[in-house]
This record gives sequence, structure tokens and C-alpha cells, in this order.
Amino acid sequence: MAQQQKLLLEVRDLTIQFGGVVALDNISLEIYDDEILGLIGPNGAGKTTLFNCLSRLYRQDSGDILVKGESITSLGPQDMARRGIGRTFQNIALFETMTVIENVLTGGQFGMNSGLAADVFGGRKVREQRAETRDRIMHLLELLNLADIADHTITDQNFAVRKRIEFARALAAKPSLLMLDEPAGGLNREEVHHLEDLIRQVRDEFKVAVLLVEHHLNLVMKVSDRVIAMDFGQKIADGLPHEVRSHPQVLEAYLGEEVA
Ligand SMILES: Nc1ncnc2c1ncn2[C@@H]1O[C@H](COP(=O)(O)OP(=O)(O)O)[C@@H](O)[C@H]1O
Ligand SMILES: [Mg+2]
Repeated sequence: MAQQQKLLLEVRDLTIQFGGVVALDNISLEIYDDEILGLIGPNGAGKTTLFNCLSRLYRQDSGDILVKGESITSLGPQDMARRGIGRTFQNIALFETMTVIENVLTGGQFGMNSGLAADVFGGRKVREQRAETRDRIMHLLELLNLADIADHTITDQNFAVRKRIEFARALAAKPSLLMLDEPAGGLNREEVHHLEDLIRQVRDEFKVAVLLVEHHLNLVMKVSDRVIAMDFGQKIADGLPHEVRSHPQVLEAYLGEEVA
């Protein structure tokens, strides 16, 4: 399915070294519109490094990254939302003293953070835009099961809820690509199950491509349209989930690891 779709993001021969460690070794890959692409690999494979290069937190030593045909390697992390790239963090980063909805709104660059009831004295167009935003954000909160706690502060929320809030915040910016770094980390079995449904639902409803970076193999295999496996900074397999799962190099890379 993915292969017939439009190319959204392209990584070309990306290399980055930290001291003597080649964290990414000439890696190339493509991400297509609306696909769920799983990125797996044992600890230290380079998944987070790739993620950080894509969100421009790390600058590569060589190679290129193109979004919709345009290189983004001269841009910084603050430019990514405008390019349609959204992300969540492996260690959650929310504003503790703000409410759930205020946190979600910070993702959207709406220029409004005074709550949804904020009245509007602007023209009809502004009112319409605000109404559209309000409907969209409410829909987002409902989908992520956050509507009931929209006005609660972050401090009171548990880990799984915080993950959903971060998810909602990333989606508020209407990304064309949503990057999730280990979203299953720290979740229990039931929460992981819920996350599987959620990722598919989000892709279907928001027509967004998802890059799912995850150590949790079962989750990736169930949810992804396509899977890329990495080891030692290189791509070792790229194909349908069942193909990648049974790939000899993937089995070898995960040998001796507890396969979740
Ligand atoms: N900021 C950094 N400084 C030094 N080494 C790093 C840094 N980021 C990643 N690395 C190294 O790069 C390799 C890949 O790490 P990482 O991308 O975090 O792997 P993964 O996310 O697949 O577990 C590891 O050897 C790691 O120690
Ligand atoms: Mg990592």
C-alpha cells in the first residue's frame, strides 16, 4: 500500500558520529504519505539519533533529509512544525502548571491560550477560524479520551495520560508526519493495547504519516504498514512487518534480547 503513495520524507546517506561511535552509518530511507512506518532495532541501533536528526536536534555529518522534495538540513527544530513534522519525546515534556487543554493548544500556534471560552471580538473570519480550531481541538481531546480532564493541570496526571496529552499536542499542529519515540515505554499491557488502536485511529482520521520508533516489537509489528530495522546505525531490513520480523539479520540483532 505504502509503496504506491506519495513520497513525504526522504533520508539520503545520512551519517553522524559521536566520538568513535558511528550512530548513523550512511542510512537511507523513505516515508510515504499516510503510512505507519515502524522503526525497530536493539538498544544503541541509532533509532533515537535518526529521530533527532529528523527533528533537527542533531546535525548530521553528511547526507541529506528532504521533506516534500525540499532539504531541511539547514533548518532548526523550531522550523519543523511549519514543515509539517510533529513529534513526541521519549521523556515527556509538558508544562506542569498548565492545564491539559492549554498544553495541547501550545502545539497549534493558534495565538490563543486563554482557554476555549475566550470570546472573540474580531471579524467573522477570525471567529470562524477560532470555531474551527475549537471544534478540532475538542475532537482531538475526545479521540484521545482527554475531554473530561481538559481543564485539569498536568501535575495530577499519570504517565499514560501524559503520553496521550503529548500526542494530542503534536497533532494540534496538523502535522503531515507524526514521529513517536518509544510511545509504549512505561505503559502496561492494557495501555499498550489501547495505544495500538489509537495510532491507527489517528492515522485514519488525521491522514497523517506516523513514524513509530519502538523497542516493543509486538506493537510495531501489529500496527505498522511497513517496518524498517536498524542495527549499528545501518538499515538491515525494510519491508512488510512479517518479512522484517523473520529476516535473518533482524533475528540475529535481537538475539539474546528480551523480545517484548
Ligand atoms: N548525544 C550523544 N552523544 C554521544 N553518543 C551518542 C549520543 N546520542 C547517541 N549516541 C550513541 O549513538 C548510538 C546510538 O544511540 P541511539 O540513537 O540512542 O540508539 P537507540 O535509540 O536505537 O537505542 C549509541 O552508541 C549511543 O551511545
Ligand atoms: Mg532510543
